This record gives sequence, structure tokens and C-alpha cells, in this order.
Amino acid sequence: MSLYEVHRDDLNRPWMVCEGAKIRILHDEREKFKPPSRDEAVHVSSKMSEWTVEDAPSGYERLIEKLNYQAPAHLLRMLRPRLPPAQNILDIGAGTGFLGAPLIEEGHTLDGLDFSRVMLSKAKERGYRQTFCASAEQLDMRDIIPSSFSYDVLISCGLYGDFVHPSWITHTLGVLRRDRESYVAIAGRSENLDNLDMYLENEGFRILAWDENIGHITSQGFEIPYVYLISIVAGGNR
Ligand SMILES: C[S@@+](CC[C@H](N)C(=O)[O-])C[C@H]1O[C@@H](n2cnc3c(N)ncnc32)[C@H](O)[C@@H]1O
Repeated sequence: MSLYEVHRDDLNRPWMVCEGAKIRILHDEREKFKPPSRDEAVHVSSKMSEWTVEDAPSGYERLIEKLNYQAPAHLLRMLRPRLPPAQNILDIGAGTGFLGAPLIEEGHTLDGLDFSRVMLSKAKERGYRQTFCASAEQLDMRDIIPSSFSYDVLISCGLYGDFVHPSWITHTLGVLRRDRESYVAIAGRSENLDNLDMYLENEGFRILAWDENIGHITSQGFEIPYVYLISIVAGGNR
């Protein structure tokens, strides 16, 4: 399938700028030709309209507590036994750094990418070394992340399949080191991540672990299933 076919729907949607990053509008019911206000921008970035820009990190943290957000813990449980010490890790859709914070305590170095600068400021407080304020939808992630930054591991939770089509991961893999094994660990809503393993296998990755488990529980008590995937590629295979 050509790139155009994969991203055709994205191309038909309007774009906007949120906190300096160019992003796609996610809500189809939005009035297409009315530019969104700054508050609506946060609605788009977080899908939670009641927050102001400044409120977003604390609003998000309150929400994930209410939703019993288990996805990061499940993903880390699967990743940890496979992770060599002191890895250089990029967290895509890092948000407030909830996923990476435990890895920092365990001696890894975390950088984060997210299109929300205020969410990233919380990740910085949690010890993220470098943050990149940009959309995860980049045709070449090297346009955003300088070549002086190379990673052993990519992690992402609650982004692919929820906000971003999983095929975009293939345009991010160029930030991984080429001289040794590298890992990709992703968690996201099951309903939209059917082909994630295929995208990674096509890029030479071997799927090490694939699980389906609760990601979070809605206020109505619905358990939302997430997919958890750990994959690896040997150095020089890309
Ligand atoms: C559900 S939160 C997950 C945050 C964190 N990974 C966690 O597990 O707590 C989704 C994050 O993705 C960010 N996001 C959504 N769409 C994005 C895009 N196209 N590019 C970059 N970040 C995006 C949002 O700003 C938000 O911080």
C-alpha cells in the first residue's frame, strides 16, 4: 500500500497549530472552517475540554487516577525483563512522563516527544532529559530530532491507535541506533492496533511479546482493552 493510501484520510482533514506544533484535528464533528480557540486546542490534544492549557497536566493526572489507567504498568511489566541497563529511551506521546518516570528511577535516560508543551513541562519535572514539542505524525522523525540524539528503545502508551495511526511508527524508527539491538514497546487501544505488528515486522523487527489486557476502566465501568507489544531488531538490520 502506498504512503498516500495509508494517510489519505489524514490528508483530507484540516490542520491546526497547537502550542507550536502542526497537528490534525481529531473531532470530525468540529466545524471544519472555524479556527479553533486556544482552549479548543487543548480539547484536541487531550480530548478533555474542561481544562485550560495551564490545567492540562494536573487535569490529566486526576483523570488517569479516576480511570484506573493500568496500561503503563502492564507495558513496563512486559518490557523490564528484556531491557538492558542504562538505555537511552524516547517516549513518544510522553505527556506528563507517567510511563517513563519509573524507568528514570531505574537508571535509564528518558527523552519525550509530545505536541503539548505544558504536558512536557511536567515530564521535565519528572526527570526527562530532553523534550521535543512536535506532532508524532512526521514523515521523517529526523526532521524533528537531531542526529546527535539516538535511541536504544522507543516507548509509547496511549498514543498510537488512539490519537495517531499506527503506521506513523515506521517514520519514527530512524531515530533508533543502528549499531546494536533496539526495542520498540507500544501500548494502545486494541480496536485500532490490529496491524501494528505488521508495520514493525516489515521494518525487520521481531515481535517478542504481544498481550491484550485492560488499559483503563471508564466511569461507567467499561474495561477498555489495550494491546501491548514488545519488538526487537538486531543492529545493522535496518
Ligand atoms: C493518553 S495521553 C498518554 C500520555 C502518556 N504516554 C501516558 O501514558 O500517560 C496522550 C498524549 O499524546 C499526546 N498527543 C496526542 N496526539 C499527538 C500527536 N499527534 N503528536 C504528539 N503528541 C500527541 C497528547 O498531548 C497526550 O499528552
